[in-house]
Amino acid sequence: MPSTRKAFRAALLHSLADPAEVGIEASYEYFEDGLLLVENGRISALGPASELLPTLPADLDIVHHRDALITPGFIDTHIHLPQTGMIGAYGEQLLDWLNTYTFPCESQFADPAHAEEVADIFIKELLRNGTTTAMVFGSVHPQSVNAFFEAAEKLDLRMIAGKVMMDRNAPDYLTDTAESGYLESKALIERWHGKGRLHYAVTPRFAPTSTPEQLTLAGQLLGEYPDLYLQTHISENLREVQWVKELFPERKGYLDVYDHYQLLGERSVFAHGVHLCDAECARLAQSGSAVAFCPTSNFFLGSGVFNLPMAEKHKLNVGIGTDVGGGTSFSILQTLNEAYKAMQLQGARLSPFKSLYLATLGGARALRLEDRIGSLQPGSDADFLVLDYHATPLLSYRLKQVRNIAETLFVLMTLGDDRTVKQTYAAGNLVHQR
Ligand code: GUN
Ligand code: ZN
Repeated sequence: MPSTRKAFRAALLHSLADPAEVGIEASYEYFEDGLLLVENGRISALGPASELLPTLPADLDIVHHRDALITPGFIDTHIHLPQTGMIGAYGEQLLDWLNTYTFPCESQFADPAHAEEVADIFIKELLRNGTTTAMVFGSVHPQSVNAFFEAAEKLDLRMIAGKVMMDRNAPDYLTDTAESGYLESKALIERWHGKGRLHYAVTPRFAPTSTPEQLTLAGQLLGEYPDLYLQTHISENLREVQWVKELFPERKGYLDVYDHYQLLGERSVFAHGVHLCDAECARLAQSGSAVAFCPTSNFFLGSGVFNLPMAEKHKLNVGIGTDVGGGTSFSILQTLNEAYKAMQLQGARLSPFKSLYLATLGGARALRLEDRIGSLQPGSDADFLVLDYHATPLLSYRLKQVRNIAETLFVLMTLGDDRTVKQTYAAGNLVHQR
């Protein structure tokens, strides 16, 4: 194959480490006039334009974005494909919201044509918002995951997904059985896990909707294939936490249910964790598991406020998640805006560089993919964004007043949304252009 070499000139910014561990200044790299080189779908170099330009062949096309910032693609560590059609549903908290809106909406995915239609809308929406990798819940129907992976494969996206396993406490039209959930998951793993840039996640919805038999088989699956992911929900809502206590009286608490069925580990992502206690955070961190912090959802469903400082204290891996359709936006920028407010409510500060980290390298670390995505480090997959400083009149005016990249970044995260994402690249290919 002939080598394809592309060069992009703009301001460049990426995370190098967690600001909570190394301090803000050492946590990022920024080139005000930078150059990014891409070869065969990977980043091959980055640095100041003044240093790299003289090393390039004279005939190489250089795409110059003025008044724009190149960052790594965003990573959404928790989102639901079959809830695209019910985002912004009025009036309920978690358990009633599931019964009133979520389950009926997810039931439509029994129809493969519907699954294909929504997978297409969903992926376009991710890309227009600059999300190049997501950890995705399908519905209980395998066709929801087949449709998603087929669409993601066509664009060579790095994506993680799984079919929901749910064999109790849900309507009959939406449940599998311990055995069928296991076999259907296994068939999807055989077909998709490790194909191109696709990965499979074993996906028990949450403890209340799986029998002990199903949770046992979920744990068994994780042992049967290397590098499988696990995704589920934990301690999102107080009524939910109480219900888990009633369903599993023999366990010490919510996390202990998952621990007992051997669902914790380096590729396990637990969504929400709003009501986790100190000891549970410590156990999650010790097991190498990660939590998806989903602020727009936590506010919208009235679930509570995630304690990021406690997670940091335990060095627990945390990624950011939109949790659409409990969350109210596909935009990671808007999700970071709400994350900032969640910290304000706790008297804490979320620095824009910590936010950048959560949305990129921190998400990649939560997913154990930091050698492939989450930064602009040479060797990484060329999944990156061009963010437009003039996306809206207000953004353009506001950015005239900023003094440094910290302020620029913070304003992008406060005022920015899908309009801010001028271009999205995946594996070096342009997959979205505004
Ligand atoms: N807990 C169990 N299922 C769900 C879901 O679909 N969304 C959210 N936010 N929480 C859940
Ligand atoms: Zn969720």
